[in-house]
Amino acid sequence: MAHSIDDRLTVVLAGLPIFFILITTLRRFIENIRNRPSPPPGPVALPLLGNILSINAKEPWLTYTEWRAAYGDLVSVRLLGQEVVVINSLHVAQALLDKRSRIYSDRPYLATRDPFGWTFNFAFTGYSDVWRLSRRLFHQTFRPDSALKFRPMQIRRAREMIVNLIDDPQHYHSHFATFSSSVTLSAVYDYEPSARDDSVVRLVENSLELGLAVMTPEKAITLKTFPFLLKLPDWCWGSSIKRDAQASTNCNNEMVEVPFRYAQQRMADDLLRGQSSMVAENLRRLEKQDEASKPMFETALKRAGATAIVASYETMSSTLMVFTLAMLLYPDVQKRAQAEIDLVTGSDRLPTFEERASLPYIDAVLRETLRWQPVLPLGLPHAASSADIYDGYFIPQGATVICNTWGISRDDKRYPDASSFIPERFIDVNGALTSDDPAQFVFGLGRRICPGRYTADASLWSAIATMLATLDISSAKDDQGKDINFTPQFTTGLSYRPMIFPCNISTRSHIHSGLIGVLRAEV
Ligand code: HEM
Ligand SMILES: *[C@@H]1O[C@H](CO)[C@@H](O)[C@H](O)[C@H]1NC(C)=O
Repeated sequence: MAHSIDDRLTVVLAGLPIFFILITTLRRFIENIRNRPSPPPGPVALPLLGNILSINAKEPWLTYTEWRAAYGDLVSVRLLGQEVVVINSLHVAQALLDKRSRIYSDRPYLATRDPFGWTFNFAFTGYSDVWRLSRRLFHQTFRPDSALKFRPMQIRRAREMIVNLIDDPQHYHSHFATFSSSVTLSAVYDYEPSARDDSVVRLVENSLELGLAVMTPEKAITLKTFPFLLKLPDWCWGSSIKRDAQASTNCNNEMVEVPFRYAQQRMADDLLRGQSSMVAENLRRLEKQDEASKPMFETALKRAGATAIVASYETMSSTLMVFTLAMLLYPDVQKRAQAEIDLVTGSDRLPTFEERASLPYIDAVLRETLRWQPVLPLGLPHAASSADIYDGYFIPQGATVICNTWGISRDDKRYPDASSFIPERFIDVNGALTSDDPAQFVFGLGRRICPGRYTADASLWSAIATMLATLDISSAKDDQGKDINFTPQFTTGLSYRPMIFPCNISTRSHIHSGLIGVLRAEV
């Protein structure tokens, strides 16, 4: 009997610590639930689907902006199984993406990335060593002091574009695209595309046409949730996604390899040429490196190069489309901008960077172009690499963080009558530029901020200033000589761009044939 009491006592004694551990764990668990801050407010999510059915599929930024009115500057959204946090104000964007960039510099893994052959693009790479190396290589070429050396080339390319626009005004979009890619192709590979139908430019164009539609968090989450879509047999409904993925991969592989081999070949043929291109400079550096690190370095260089090309092509040509649309819809703005240039350059010269400081209205037009229709309305998605608490709200590790650039640009307090094109909002009473520059948000924020923004700015300025100096943009006319009216349509996906619209691009009357002759001789 005594024996069995002893036994029982041993069991109890042995059990006690386990019991206490259980109790404390349970207590902690309950406390955690009670104290854990709640996620930011947001619309009620359906089981499994989350909020995906309430989001405007073509223009999700419109929905996110409506939700700002209902829930505020930081909104929780669930897309199928993925937690998403949408930032709706510049203040919160700065507080999180900039000031806490240690947490918010990751990218969500987009399930469309690898199947569609976009792995090379370091803009979609997580916060990692591969990203760091690619970004460093990129930065060496495109940081502000280094990008200065591209200015004469940018001016030359802009003038080349004017000649193309004068000779073949109907295909203005194609000339914008050639200009946009030619600046970067020169800077990266020392490659000079031909004025029309260049084979490398066409590769870039095809690759983006396939890619931009699918490289959005909204699309990627669908593929992540239904990965079998990539395995459907060819006859099956829905299998086109598989064929698109293959086509996109082939196209991207060529786009990464072809211009790179061109640069390598030029190096091999004549070591002294192409000295200042990003690839040439680094290949030379590579020769001095030890064998072991060469493959990784070469991969990073290829990635950085091809990323620069795709990152400039769509953003830059879309911005020039927006500019052209604005000049057509707001003729008074166009006249004021032309008058400012004429006053500074007279009519027998074209503007150069030396005159930029004397042309504040042109810069105001550029700022308003970037703000009025942001070409990346939701920037690129960030991801939280660890959990965070902001303003009492809990943001879980792995959350996708989207900055609603479009919503910020439509903030009526900062930009009264925000949907109208009004460059004057950036000019103060003394005629000088104000300190409000949309470049603070249209290029993203934090460690992931667009590293191409200095060249982007200079390319856009040279294009816009040269166009205003030489061309008139006006409504196209129908057979009866009446203006053709139209409602602007936009492409959507990751990027946002006016579709081709009827438009009359003609040489300004005061531009005499002498100046055009000089232009032609230059290019
Ligand atoms: C109007 C022109 C442009 C706009 C509006 C623009 C905008 C942006 C935005 C919003 C991002 C994402 C930033 C973030 O994650 O917070 C980005 C990333 C990037 N941009 Fe641009 N960009 C432009 C032109 C260019 C050009 C010309 C280049 C190359 C020469 C370039 C290269 C890049 C690269 C490499 C990234 C990825 C950065 C990273 O993930 O670390 N961009 N850009
Ligand atoms: C285009 O505009 C210019 C002047 O702005 C005009 O002289 C020309 O006739 C117009 N062309 C067409 C086809 O409408």
